[in-house]
Amino acid sequence: MIREVLKMGDPRLLRVARPVAGFGTPELSALLADMHDTMEHLDGAGLAAPQIGVDLRVVVFGVSNNPRYPHAEDVPYTVLINPVIEPLSEQLEEGWEGCLSVPGLRGIVLRFARLRYRGCDATGAPIDREAEGFHARVVQHECDHLDGILYPMRVRDFSRFGFIEALFPNQEIKDD
Ligand code: NI
Repeated sequence: MIREVLKMGDPRLLRVARPVAGFGTPELSALLADMHDTMEHLDGAGLAAPQIGVDLRVVVFGVSNNPRYPHAEDVPYTVLINPVIEPLSEQLEEGWEGCLSVPGLRGIVLRFARLRYRGCDATGAPIDREAEGFHARVVQHECDHLDGILYPMRVRDFSRFGFIEALFPNQEIKDD
């Protein structure tokens, strides 16, 4: 089921979400299905449970031919529960980000260039991966949502934050 995505300003986006305690439950399956449907419907690169008002440490992400991120490399569709991120170097990278909770806008955010992320999949089985580039960026962006952090809170240079059509007048970047 496609769910409504909360917009920045809604206090539910600012909570520190609770860990998932039980796997294989109908409630978790329904949540993951709704997150998948909502992300696909809105062409999101990722979605965190708090964005649909669910106070749990669950994110989904994945990119392939995404019209909102036409230049991004592919990222496999992933369900990541109770994630933990560990940077693999101190190197930071600038990149443009958007968010379904902040429609129409983009901003430059500094993120760790390389990281390891761990957590569980939908069945509770462990996930342990290394990522870099856009993949690492998406993971950091989505996991931030679990701690009540939206990407504009990480923007340092507000001369590179604004509306998509104003920032990129000659490019076709779809957003809602
Ligand atoms: Ni977001």
